[in-house]
Formats: sequence, C-alpha cells, structure tokens
Amino acid sequence: MLDVARHFFPVEFVLRMIDQLAAHKLNVLHLHLTDDQGWRIPIPGYPRLTEVGAWRPETIVGFDHEEDEYERDGEPHGGAYTRAELEDIVAYAAARHIDVLPEVDFPGHASAAIAAYPKLGNGGRSEVRTRWGISTHILNLEEATLRFVQAVFDEVTSIFPSAYVHGGGDEVPKREWRESAKVQRKRVELGIDNEEELQGWFTAQVDRMLREKQRRLVAWDEVVTGGAPRDTVVMAWRSTGYGVDAALRGYDVIMSPSEYLYLDHRQSTNPDEPVTFPASPLPLARVFEFEPVPEGLREAYGRPGCGRVLGGQVHLWSEYVPTVAHAEYMTFPRLCAFAEAVWRQPLAPGGTRSFPEFHRRLSHHATRLQAAGIRYRRFDTSSAFLELEQVPPERRLALAGPS
Ligand code: ACM
Repeated sequence: MLDVARHFFPVEFVLRMIDQLAAHKLNVLHLHLTDDQGWRIPIPGYPRLTEVGAWRPETIVGFDHEEDEYERDGEPHGGAYTRAELEDIVAYAAARHIDVLPEVDFPGHASAAIAAYPKLGNGGRSEVRTRWGISTHILNLEEATLRFVQAVFDEVTSIFPSAYVHGGGDEVPKREWRESAKVQRKRVELGIDNEEELQGWFTAQVDRMLREKQRRLVAWDEVVTGGAPRDTVVMAWRSTGYGVDAALRGYDVIMSPSEYLYLDHRQSTNPDEPVTFPASPLPLARVFEFEPVPEGLREAYGRPGCGRVLGGQVHLWSEYVPTVAHAEYMTFPRLCAFAEAVWRQPLAPGGTRSFPEFHRRLSHHATRLQAAGIRYRRFDTSSAFLELEQVPPERRLALAGPS
C-alpha cells in the first residue's frame, strides 16, 4: 500500500513502484487515495473535493521537544490525479499482472471531504487537516451523504477494474454520532442499539453498493466490531491477532499487521534515521519474520466457518515521507524481505526461510535496485540516512502550492 493522501506522489513514482512490485512478484498495489489531510481522486459532481480537499496550508514535519510544540513547514501541499492518470496507472499495472486496489476511507479519515463539502459532516469547523493522528470529524448518515458515497464508489469502480475495492473503516471516533440529534434519530429509526453497530450499518451500505457492481468490499479490521457483512474482506492492521480473530469469525483476511509490515516505522535505533510517526523501529529482520498464516490459524484452517488468508500486505504510510527518495528509502530493502516472507515457507519448523541466507542474496539483489536507481537504505553498514541526503534536488518531489 502506498499512502498518496498524506503526501501526494507523482504518477511517475507510482509507475516506478509498480515496476518494483513486479520485480518482487507482488501482485496488488493498494492506493490509499483519501484521508483527513488530502483527497486525490476527482469525482464528477463534486469538484471541490480536489479544488479544496486536495490542499492543505502546511504540514507537521516533527516535534520540537524543547519548545514542546510541533514543527511546521509553512508550505502548502497537495495535488490530485486526473481520471486519465489513474487509468494509466491501472493499465501500466495490468500489463505487469498487478491489480490496483483503490481505497477511499469512510466514514472516518474524511476531514478533507468534509472541508470541501461541510454538509457531509456533523457540524462544527472542519478543514483539510494539517496535523496527523485521528480526527474527530466523521461523515454524517444523511441521505445526501449516502448519495455522495454512492457517487464516489460509482466513479472508483468505473476507473479501477479490481474485483476488490477498499472502503476504509478504520479509526472512527463515535462522539459526533453520539452527540448529533439527526444521527440519533436515524439510529432509532433503524432500530440500532449503539454507534458501533451504526458503523456496521454504514459498512453494509458500502458493501451493498459494491456488490451491485460485482465487487467485493475490503475494510480495515475495526469493521468487525460493528458487525460487517460476512463477505467483507478484513485487512488486519492493528495486529496479527485481529486477523486471526476475523478469520475465526469466518471473514476472509488480508494479513498486514503493523508490528511486522508498517514501513513508516524507522528502520533502526540509529539517531541518524529520519523522523518517523511511530517511534519504535521495524528493522529488516523483523519484516522477514512475517508469517502470512500464523500458526494458531493454520490449525483452524479447513474448519467450517473459518475464513481464509487471501494474502499479506506491506504498507507505506506517508505522514513523514515527503519525497520520492524518502519513500524509496523507507520501502527498500524492507519490501524485498516482505516478498521473501510471502513467497517462502514459514521460518520454522521445517521451513525454508533463513535470514542469513536471504541477507547474502540481498547483497546481489542490491545491484538490481541500484540499476533501477532505487534509493534503498544501506543494509550492509550502520549508516542510516546518508543515501537520502545524497539525492539530487531534481529527484526530490516538489512541494508545490496550488496554482
Ligand atoms: C491504519 O493504519 N489506520 C489503517
């Protein structure tokens, strides 16, 4: 997964990553197209999504512990793909046997949409968010909002032929729904007991919209709590345990636990590493240890009612990843370790996966990365961020303002 919402990445970079996915025998590119800090896909009838929702006035770039406040860059950031560009991405990927899984994140992580169209929200001031973390602003549940959601999925499914479409569903604070008289009236009308189940109802609406188009909903693992429809594919991110739990409840699962696969973590404890959002390190060897089908689940496999693991997925969230070179630094060589993890048998017992053996081959593989011009993190020395500092300015992603 590439998060093009927190930082907008140019089409050329997306194509370059597709080449690398193909080289590493990975067959899905999940594009996280919308979030609180930016909306990146045009939707007919809703021009303000990209005119307003695609731009934020500045970005948090770190935290000043002496001043006890965020460091801000003071630079506008944003951008959106055109429909033709997204179609090009899909075609380029398809020619390399890669499906593009589009994601629009609802009903939380929707501040950019609400800033563009405040009527989608529950009142109060909303803007394209400049801070990271979880926003309290979420979509309301009015008919006009559901028509908006339908329009978004109509457009998304007309651009992306993928059999699967990601509807988000993570990190949805329920306070606005609890405090909104309109939402509460709707809840009572629907005969629903609480706000978690209201999210289940919302998930069922999205599931229905997608099923009408013969597509299958993928959603983050939080949707299990509110009772998502059983054909939802659960993308387990909070931990492997949430994936096991979902599978045991009968959901098909994509295993993508943050403790192994969130590439926004720093790669070592070296103080030269760039600023990251999560403080804990996720070294190469840890990614390598990822087991798509953990042991506890292997025993349950084949039992009636048990879901399946459809695959594993590694993620690059881009809160603190403002440039192409930085994105490559965070992704490689950890993506290589991920490919090894999903293609080789378990580490133990009787498996064929070995970190020392992988590490030896990685030295040769680095020649390929170099030939492709990938700014990977050095794994043969303790030097951390040197590679990135050597990136010539023209290779860095321009942080342009709105024209
Ligand atoms: C997520 O990291 N909130 C899916």
